[in-house]
Amino acid sequence: MGETEKASEAKRTTVGPASVLAYLDPNYWNERFTSEDHYEWLKDYSHFRHLIHQHIKPDSSVLELGCGNSQLSDELYNDGITNITCIDLSSVAVEKMQKRFFSKGYKGVKVLEGNMLNLSFADESFDVVIEKGTMDVLFVDSGDPWNPRPEAVNNAMAMLQGVHRVLKPNGIFISIAFGQPHFRRPLFNAPEFTWSIDYTTFGDGFHYFFYVLRKGCKLLDANADVKKVETPTLCLYQDELDNEDYLFRTNIDETDDQR
Ligand SMILES: C[S@@+](CC[C@H](N)C(=O)[O-])C[C@H]1O[C@@H](n2cnc3c(N)ncnc32)[C@H](O)[C@@H]1O
Repeated sequence: MGETEKASEAKRTTVGPASVLAYLDPNYWNERFTSEDHYEWLKDYSHFRHLIHQHIKPDSSVLELGCGNSQLSDELYNDGITNITCIDLSSVAVEKMQKRFFSKGYKGVKVLEGNMLNLSFADESFDVVIEKGTMDVLFVDSGDPWNPRPEAVNNAMAMLQGVHRVLKPNGIFISIAFGQPHFRRPLFNAPEFTWSIDYTTFGDGFHYFFYVLRKGCKLLDANADVKKVETPTLCLYQDELDNEDYLFRTNIDETDDQR
């Protein structure tokens, strides 16, 4: 890559696309993944590894939604969690990820083109469904976060219905997200879902949310619908304002549960 291309690549990955609407466009992701080999949204694995290991066992079957070119699956694999299926809407991401896993000799990891809004897997097929920054994409054009547009809500519900369906009884959905509890609670807590809802935070400066929804374990006490679990946070300093996540983090205010 020449100096000019390097500069424009650096600019793109630090300031993002001209409009956040691009994040809803599969062509944007295909084009981006053609030239980009790795970009880690939110934080890398080292920041939430301690949380992952509280919930995923080595023999868990794991579905990752919207893997992009993240190294989350590589890290899980290296930690002994090898029964992994990754999906992404972008055919380019899928092809590059397949090549990467093949070249690393990872066995048992499947990478498939797929839409998380219409999951093609059988009912009750995974112990764990995980996503990082993928559900957040559905809200980039949702308008007022307290009253999101119906399209965003419908898409989020389609995603969650699919996740709930493909989870085994007692299986868990791990959502690693910008979206704050007061915005996610009404969706996670829809009457059709049987999962309990816990979360903790991690990160320095901005907090990111690590939600754990366990199927079949919904609490009967409606006031205890979203339980915050106190877990020590790993504070590894990063200059977060400089990266694309800051722009992506639309419609989200700074304070937690203030309304
Ligand atoms: C913000 S990136 C997050 C990538 C990765 N999870 C990470 O943490 O770095 C969102 C990813 O979701 C994918 N994506 C967007 N909409 C999707 C959908 N409906 N189904 C599956 N993947 C989708 C995009 O192609 C992109 O790879």
